[in-house]
Amino acid sequence: MSTARVNALMNQMTTAEKIGQLLQMTGDAFQSGESKITGPMQDKHLSTETVYAVGSVLGTSGAKQVKEIQKDYLAHNRLHIPLMFMADVIHGYQTIYPIPLGLGATFNPEMVRQTSEVAARISAAGGIQVTFAPMVDLVRDPRWGRVMESTGEDPYLNSVMTQASVEGFQGELPLDKEHIAACVKHFAAYGAPEAGREYNTVDLSEWRFREQYLPAYAAAIEAQAMLVMTSFNTLFGVPASANQHLMRDILRDELNFHGVLISDWNAVGELIRHGVAANSEAATALALKAGVDIDMMSFAYASYLKKAADLDDQTLALINEAAVRVLELKEKLGLFDDPFRGMDEEKELHDIHSDETMAVVQQAAEESLVLLKNDQQVLPLHHTQSIALIGPVIASNDLLGAWSWNGHRHETETLEHAFKADFNDVKVATGCDYRHADAAAEAEALAIAEQQDVIVAVLGLPSSESGEASSLANIKLPQAQLELLAKLAKLNKPIISVIITGRAMDLTRVNELSTAIVVAWFPGTKGAIAIKNVLDGTVSPNGKLPMTFPRSVGQVPIYYNQYRTGRPVPDPYVDSGNGYESKYMDCSTLPLYPFGFGLSYADITIEKVEVIHNVVTETQPLTVNVTIKNNSDFAAKNVLQGYTHQLIGETVRPMKELKYFAKITFPAHSEQTITVTIAKEQLSSVHTNLKRATDAGHYEVMIGFDSEKLIKCDFEVQ
Ligand code: BGC
Repeated sequence: MSTARVNALMNQMTTAEKIGQLLQMTGDAFQSGESKITGPMQDKHLSTETVYAVGSVLGTSGAKQVKEIQKDYLAHNRLHIPLMFMADVIHGYQTIYPIPLGLGATFNPEMVRQTSEVAARISAAGGIQVTFAPMVDLVRDPRWGRVMESTGEDPYLNSVMTQASVEGFQGELPLDKEHIAACVKHFAAYGAPEAGREYNTVDLSEWRFREQYLPAYAAAIEAQAMLVMTSFNTLFGVPASANQHLMRDILRDELNFHGVLISDWNAVGELIRHGVAANSEAATALALKAGVDIDMMSFAYASYLKKAADLDDQTLALINEAAVRVLELKEKLGLFDDPFRGMDEEKELHDIHSDETMAVVQQAAEESLVLLKNDQQVLPLHHTQSIALIGPVIASNDLLGAWSWNGHRHETETLEHAFKADFNDVKVATGCDYRHADAAAEAEALAIAEQQDVIVAVLGLPSSESGEASSLANIKLPQAQLELLAKLAKLNKPIISVIITGRAMDLTRVNELSTAIVVAWFPGTKGAIAIKNVLDGTVSPNGKLPMTFPRSVGQVPIYYNQYRTGRPVPDPYVDSGNGYESKYMDCSTLPLYPFGFGLSYADITIEKVEVIHNVVTETQPLTVNVTIKNNSDFAAKNVLQGYTHQLIGETVRPMKELKYFAKITFPAHSEQTITVTIAKEQLSSVHTNLKRATDAGHYEVMIGFDSEKLIKCDFEVQ
């Protein structure tokens, strides 16, 4: 619905100016001011005129710089249409939260809303108007480097977190100057590349796509995300940026998305390499037809500028449609009234470091940590114990993770400092490099480990090994670290392994060698304090795995919500001795640690599960009362989880599907009853006609604190 202002502008704009709105470039075209085109722009032979018609910029931020660029641009743009600034604010602007997979592990949507809100406020002050987030791609293959940018393997968890993130970034609509527009990405199914290899083919049936991958994108659109980004991959045989069925039928018509569709970086240009377009013009035609409004960095749309005079009516209509959407977004952002919306150097600097920001950053980090193992209750540690803090991460302090270019590395709390602040006797040593053994460093580590009571081994992968273009074929810890850990284990002291990672890993060997394991992801600016706080019991761990941890890479993809098979293993814990079952001959079918798993220091038990309403109708949700006791001295949070299973369906149904979760605080020695409700609509599944519907019939509900240890009850849907 274009406004009078947008219509008036459209009437004055030349076709070349309209196409200009559809181009996005990096800020280096403008940074040097006064019509100076540098770097890649020069290589693309773009004229000064073209550059000053460009509608948006990516990857440039900082109030001072953005103001200068905007001022210079407005002085040159004929109709004074402001530039729009977009950037990847993925897990914080300069103060860095845990990576999104870690935010998934919080199982706390309120936390996600808050992190997005604070990040929006600071980045708005820093001149950013659109963030390329959240990434909501469902991920089940930890070989893929970008699993770190997702909240994990489950459609429901992803959908809830997506909604919270979009609402946090955008605030209550209409947008105010402290919020920014969210661009959900990558549409669609980018998280399912074959063999976990980056940019590889995705081949899902449309049924599967709709069942599991589509819901999180739909949740973003339902939450009114203002932009969508196309993915690099092929889906249903056609690259996303040229995929009319995906973009027109599903995104626009079915999901009712009226916002701006932007390509991923050079994705329009890559239609040529995919082999569906012969040249830039053909690629542009395909993308425009699919409804891609903005071409990010491929310069294919720019080639249309040159022949703007003789474009046919159909192409002109598509260009108009796209230009209107871009101008409408600028209007929603308030850029026509104030091209410098929200930009404020002082506020930017203040809020990056403010106590409020730091408190949210630290709480998010604390809630993201997952305790996988705690033999002999070795954790929490006592401050009187002497600690050997060992591992390559101690030296690198690489805790921010990928997508944190603006993150202040030098201001990131160090592990050494965090531990030394509270423990009387801490000795540190690297032991080895991430991927290389070092005899001297190893000798030093073993020597200090021998002297101390407890070994805290901070191991893992560097941030360069997760994120875009960071697929791995081996998801174990690197050999050098495993060897160091094996030597430390020979000392027969308690070993607490803290794992810094952007992905689920094969921790089978680590599990054998460690007394306790904490998965810390990339925990961000305050990550070191969060790790210390969880290890010494300042906080009881309350994160849960958002992704299954396999026993071996050979099990991948492995996820908790598997479909049934005609030849199931009767009991995965017992070898039946039978052949012809859905299993491996050399490995269990069970994961090492399942989805939703995470231990607590508190002894929290489910005392009673009582189904209050066991007949579900349109108006009557399933209602279950769960009585829970905290039998310990520890006040702690834990995540109550509710799964359902449809016994007979028109299509096969997963064995379990998460339909409810809540992070609850349990005071020490307390009891409370939580009411779990699940509406009929939430029980819907995709039928063979590709439509969603909820079947009448028998179902089960399963309640617990992870996806395996569950209490089961029956219910019926009418
Ligand atoms: C990534 C996107 C990102 C874009 C802009 C691409 O390479 O796939 O997720 O938003 O770059 O930085």
